[in-house]
Amino acid sequence: MMTDIQQQITALTERLHHLNYQYYQRDISEVSDQEFDELLAQLARLEQQYPDLAHPNSPTQRVGGTITKQFPTAEHRYPMLSLGNTYSEADLREFDERVRRGLEGADVAYVCELKFDGVAMSLAYQQGQLTQGVTRGDSTRGDVVTSNVRTIRNLPLHLRPEGAPQPPEFEVRGEIFMPLPVFAELNQEREANGEALLANPRNAASGALKLQDSAQVAARKLRFYAYSFLMPGRNQFPTHSASLEALRAWGLPVSDTWRRCGTIEEVLDFVHQWDKQRFELPVATDGIVIKVDDFRQQELLGFTAKSPRWAIAYKYPAEAGRTRLQAIQYQVGRTGAVTPVALLDPVPLAGTVVKRASVHNANQIAALDLRLGDMVFVEKGGEIIPKITGVDVAARPADSQPIVYPTECPACGTPLIRPEGEAHFRCPNDRGCPPQRKAKLEHFVSRKALNIDGLGAETVGRFFDLSLVTDAASLYDLPAKAAELAQLDRMGEKSVQRLMAGLEASKQVPFDRVLFGLGIRYVGETVAEKLVNHYRTVEALAAATATELAAVPEVGGVIAESAAAWFQEPENQQLIERLRAAGLQLALTGEAPQPQSDRLAGLTFVLSGVFEQHSREELQHLIEQHGGKITGSISKKLSYLVAGDKMGPAKREKATSLNVPIIGETDLLAMLPTATDEAETPEEAAAAPAEGTSETSRPAAGAGQQGSLF
Ligand code: IVH
Repeated sequence: MMTDIQQQITALTERLHHLNYQYYQRDISEVSDQEFDELLAQLARLEQQYPDLAHPNSPTQRVGGTITKQFPTAEHRYPMLSLGNTYSEADLREFDERVRRGLEGADVAYVCELKFDGVAMSLAYQQGQLTQGVTRGDSTRGDVVTSNVRTIRNLPLHLRPEGAPQPPEFEVRGEIFMPLPVFAELNQEREANGEALLANPRNAASGALKLQDSAQVAARKLRFYAYSFLMPGRNQFPTHSASLEALRAWGLPVSDTWRRCGTIEEVLDFVHQWDKQRFELPVATDGIVIKVDDFRQQELLGFTAKSPRWAIAYKYPAEAGRTRLQAIQYQVGRTGAVTPVALLDPVPLAGTVVKRASVHNANQIAALDLRLGDMVFVEKGGEIIPKITGVDVAARPADSQPIVYPTECPACGTPLIRPEGEAHFRCPNDRGCPPQRKAKLEHFVSRKALNIDGLGAETVGRFFDLSLVTDAASLYDLPAKAAELAQLDRMGEKSVQRLMAGLEASKQVPFDRVLFGLGIRYVGETVAEKLVNHYRTVEALAAATATELAAVPEVGGVIAESAAAWFQEPENQQLIERLRAAGLQLALTGEAPQPQSDRLAGLTFVLSGVFEQHSREELQHLIEQHGGKITGSISKKLSYLVAGDKMGPAKREKATSLNVPIIGETDLLAMLPTATDEAETPEEAAAAPAEGTSETSRPAAGAGQQGSLF
C-alpha cells in the first residue's frame, strides 16, 4: 500500500518536473494549465495525506506555504565577491591590457553576459537536488532563503542527468529578478490599493525574497538566471562557456544572450549591440559582465581583495535627457489620488521617445522648484517610468510660470483633500468623479478581477464615455443594448456576441475575485481571498465591524476600516444587490468545511504575534476545525489569548487584567485531538482541497528571445 502511494508520488513528481522543464526551458506546453494544476493538486493531496513521503524538492514547493520567521545564515563555501565597475570604453581596453599582461601575452577569449539587475543568489545542489539557497549577505555569510527560492518557477529543484556528468556537490550562482511586466503589474496594484510604490524591480525582488511566507513569494513571480558554476577542487570544465552550456543541459536557466568574444573589439561590439537592445528584454539590466573564458587563465589572474581580476562590469550610464516642460497634467486615479504628470517636448531616452514623466506629488514639484517652460533633466534608470531629476535653472526662460497645484479636482471640481500623512491630494467624490468611476469599471473587468472576455479597459472606458455603462452592475444591462453596441465603430456582431458570452461567463467568477473587483481601497487580491474564506458570504462580510475584520489574518486596521466603511454606504449596498440580481457569485460555493471535532466548542481565542510551528492562518483554521471561534478583541468573555512571538505588551496587560488565560502555540496544539484520536478516513483527507496560492497555475507562455520567463 505504502509503496503504491510512494510510486504515485514519484510518478507525479517526475511528470511535473518534466512539464516544468519543457515549459520554462524549452517553451513547450505539453498539457493545458488546467491539467498541470490538476496534477499538482493531486500531488499536494497525497503529500498532505502522507507527509512522510513528501519530498523537500517536490513541485508543490513552488506554491510555497512555508513560514520562516527569521532566516538562518550560512557561510559561503566560496566568498561571493563583487565586480569592479567601469563606465567607459577606455576602461574596458585597459582591462583587456591588464588581463593580457597578467597572462604574459597569451591568447585570451572573453565571455560577455548581460548584467541582470536583481539579487545575487548562491544555490547548492547535491546529487542533482537543490539543497540550499543563500543570499550574498556580507559576501562571506548570507541568509538561507531556500524555501523562498524553491518557489521560483524557472529554477529546477532537481537537475536532469543530461550533458556533462554532474559532480556530487556543486554551486550555481546567478541572479534572482522580478520580470519587468510583473514589476509593472505589482506597482499598478500597489497604486490602486493606495500603497507606496516600489522604486525598481531590484528592490521588488530583494523585498520579495525576504518575505516570511513563501506562498507570498510565489505570488511575486520571481525568476532566476544562472551565470556561474563552482565546484570543490579543480573545475571540471575547461572554460566558463563550457560550464554555461552544461548548466543549460542540466535544466538551469541560462539567458541565451551571452557571447564568446575573441577580441576586445568584439566585446565592444557586444556592449554597443545591447546598449539599446537590452530594453527589449523582459528583465532589467544595467550593464555587461565581461569574464575571461578559460578557467586556468582565471586562476592565474586571481583576485584582488574585493573582486576577481579576470572579470569586470561595464555599466551603462543611466540615460538622461534634457527637454522642456510643457505642462503638468493632473490624473485622477481609481481611489481619487491626484498625480501630477509632466508633459515634455519629446526626447529620445533609453530606447524610447519620452513625452511624459512622473513627478510623484506636490512636494516634489516644490522640492525641484519646477516651473512651466523650464528645461528639465529626465532620467530613466532602473525605474520604468522616466522621472524629472532636476531643473536647468541657468536656462530658465524669463517667462517661466510657477506651477499652481490645483485645489479642486481637475475632473469634477470637488475640493481636494490631503489626508494626514499622505503625499497625494485626493478627490473625495468617489462616486461622482468620472475618472474614478471609469477607473473602477476598468478595474472590475480586469484580468485579476472579473476578467470579462471581450471587454478590455479601453472598450469599457469607451462604453463609459458613451454613457452605455455607469458602474459595475450596469455592465449586466448591456445585453439589452446589444443592437446599439453592434452599431459602434470597431464593434460588430461578432464582438458583441463575444462580449455577451464574456458577461455570462463572469457570473461564475468566484466571490473573492468579485470582491477584489469592487475596488475597495486596500482590498487587494490576497486580502479579498482571506476575507472571503473567513466570512464566506457577502452578508456576513458586510455585517462585520472594523474590529472584527481586523481580526482576520493579514487584514490590518486600515484595511478593516476601509472595508467596513465601504459596506456601510447605502449606494454600495445597492450595488451589491444589483450585482446579486445580475447573478454574480457573492458567496463561497461548496460546503463549509466540516468540523473535525468539537474539542474546542464554546471556546473563543485571540491569536496574537508570530507563531513557530504554524502560520496564524493555519492556527485559525485548526481552531475553527475543532469547533472553536476566533475573535478580534480581548474581553472578559474571551477563553484564551494565544501568544506568539512579538506580541504587543498592551495585549498581554489587558488579558492579565481581565484574568484571561494566556497560552502559547504548543498549549493550543495540545488541546487538539492527536492523530490517533482522529476518525478521519484517508478518503476524507484526499477530498480536502489542496493549498493554493495565486500562482498555482502556470501563466500563459510569454515567449520572447529569452524563453518563457513567466
Ligand atoms: S558574475 C565574482 N555575471 O552583479 C563576481 N554577476 O558585482 C561574479 N550580476 O551582485 C559575478 N549579472 O549578482 C556576474 N552575468 C552576471 C551578472 C552578475 C548580474 C550581479 C551579481 C553581483 C554583481 C557583481
